[in-house]
Amino acid sequence: MPNETRHILVTSALPYANGSLHLGHLVEYIQTDIWVRFQKMQGHQTIYVCADDAHGTPIMLRAQNEGISPEELIARTDREHRADFADFGIGFDNYHSTHSAENRELANTIYLRLKEGGYIHSRKIKQAYDPEKHMFLPDRFIKGECPRCGAGDQYGDNCEVCGATYSPTELKNPVSAISGATPVEKESEHYFFDLGAFENMLKEWTSGEHIQPQIAHKLNEWFDAGLRDWDISRDAPYFGFEIPDAPGKYFYVWLDAPIGYMASFKNYCDRQGLDFNAWWGKESNYELYHFIGKDIAYFHTLFWPAMLYGSGFRTPTAVFCHGFLTVNGQKMSKSRGTFITARTYLDHLNPEYLRYYFAAKLGNGIDDLDLNLEDFQLRVNADLVGKVVNIASRCAGFIYKRFSGRLSDKCAETALYRQFADASDRIARLYDGREFGHAIREIMTLADHANQYIDAKKPWVLAKQEGKEEEVQAVCSVGLNLFRVLITYLKPVLPRMAEEAEAFLNIEPLDWPAVQTPLTAHTINKFKPLMTRVEKEKLEAILEASKQNLQTRSSGQAGGKKEVSKMEPIAEQIEFDDFAKIDLRIARIIKAEQVKGADKLLQLTLDLGGETRNVFAGIKSAYQPEDLEGKLTVMVANLKPRKMRFGVSEGMVLAAGPGGKDLWILEPDEGAQPGMRVK
Ligand code: MSP
Ligand code: ZN
Repeated sequence: MPNETRHILVTSALPYANGSLHLGHLVEYIQTDIWVRFQKMQGHQTIYVCADDAHGTPIMLRAQNEGISPEELIARTDREHRADFADFGIGFDNYHSTHSAENRELANTIYLRLKEGGYIHSRKIKQAYDPEKHMFLPDRFIKGECPRCGAGDQYGDNCEVCGATYSPTELKNPVSAISGATPVEKESEHYFFDLGAFENMLKEWTSGEHIQPQIAHKLNEWFDAGLRDWDISRDAPYFGFEIPDAPGKYFYVWLDAPIGYMASFKNYCDRQGLDFNAWWGKESNYELYHFIGKDIAYFHTLFWPAMLYGSGFRTPTAVFCHGFLTVNGQKMSKSRGTFITARTYLDHLNPEYLRYYFAAKLGNGIDDLDLNLEDFQLRVNADLVGKVVNIASRCAGFIYKRFSGRLSDKCAETALYRQFADASDRIARLYDGREFGHAIREIMTLADHANQYIDAKKPWVLAKQEGKEEEVQAVCSVGLNLFRVLITYLKPVLPRMAEEAEAFLNIEPLDWPAVQTPLTAHTINKFKPLMTRVEKEKLEAILEASKQNLQTRSSGQAGGKKEVSKMEPIAEQIEFDDFAKIDLRIARIIKAEQVKGADKLLQLTLDLGGETRNVFAGIKSAYQPEDLEGKLTVMVANLKPRKMRFGVSEGMVLAAGPGGKDLWILEPDEGAQPGMRVK
């Protein structure tokens, strides 16, 4: 670890101003914040900036829907985001907005310099236009039928049913998702950034230490596919910055979004009296890091360095990508209640639990990470409450009550203490290299050693013996010193707990070098429990509240629309591949019988065209067995056989209806043959 002071500017991606933060976002902000806090503890000058990403069509439309101005919407979201971040302990040095004076000025400067350099061209293009709304339609606002498979209700440029990709103009029977009108084609002039002109620069930049190997691999694919011009303009109406020399044309949100990093920093410099150019000038040898999710790598590893280079600014030292969050092994889902907003989590649980859990699971790569709620509970309880806090709670009482809070004059276990202090460099290297999970493992191994030491010495037994006073003080002082080292190592992850521990230990804020010297002949304060256990009920309450969020939100949006009564909510969307696994077949019911003791079931013998199957079906309320014999039905032929109370069921028949007498099993027309595949 180099000892000279580093100058480090760090950013996280700017969250969109049209929505609430959720636990997926927090992977990124927590990861960045841990890294920043770690660097600050090293004594490096580290500045962490971020902002709301306030421009673009979705924000404009959302404001319209709510009947407010975009400015009002972004002001409201700004307040919400700031509160969420603060409560999760995300310690930005500055939080700004892309809809700011600094950003307008910097975006103009960069654009004009790129134009001067000959990297901006304009040409006319044809695009879908909503004749009712009088606006051009971004891809995601056009729906229609897939040109390949005909599936309806497909958005933009790819079909979710068959996976085809196409241009939105190829959609059949397209409609505007905003007004429902049929879009027309309309021509307009657009401005393009000549990314291809930067091919050599980018190839060189991306082959350095600036990006992770997995991203480098992806970039090679992009290079092979060829770097295309990038459309950086949008027509009015648009919520963004008007292009200086082009009335009615606006910068596309992704042009001014990364410039928002600079704008937030500029705003900070102006208030703190820092020299902006020392950090962003072409010759700057300060460090600049962007933490982002893998979905936005293209913007940050191609467009952004090219824009900076082409306009005479420095390029990033590195772009650090992380993977995506899943909850209980699956994509976050509103219907399962696993689409958890930052605020819902905060309403029920201590944010430092989540910071710890994410840290324990983060590495320096782009793998996705899973929040398994059961594992989360076990892990936090076992590690933080069971191991770390436990050390202090086992030692503090004796010191406070018997020795007026005074630690012994020297730390008795020199070798053990050294072992803890010597881990400092190793753990620092892991944090610096964003190997947080590995760092946490090292720290927890030390915590185990500390607990083993206390277990072996048994201060609670010594305390009852005569003449062992000094030994009790010595053992508990060692325990608290080991605790202090562990808290130092965990401080980037658990800033609030560290602060409370500092108050309890009655010490100045811990920094990294502090662990080299133990606390001796020092008076501590009374111990208060630093962290309580994660309770299962709280986790359940979060899932429940997240399901309710969904309901209140969707009923709010549906305002005025026709109400669908008594309908079960449509289940979570599944992938086409999941659906394709279901093998549906026509089957003839060759025998139908009552099942003794079952009040809902009939036992069916089905002919699948050569093969017969035994199936128990819950259709007794609607059919007499004799009425079914000889009829055709549709069955799921590849359902795993299930052992039921009355026998093994080897498939399932499909029925529709509200239930009771109104339940129908299909009787296809004469063309159907047993065994035929249903598509
Ligand atoms: N506004 C853009 C970023 C502009 S940066 C100049 C954007 N915003 S976002 O709100 O959609 O996402 C913000 C960050 O959160 C991105 O880095 C994104 O990858 C990350 N994540 C959003 N959902 C996530 C998960 N489910 N899991 C992990 N990270 C996720 O993109
Ligand atoms: Zn399709």
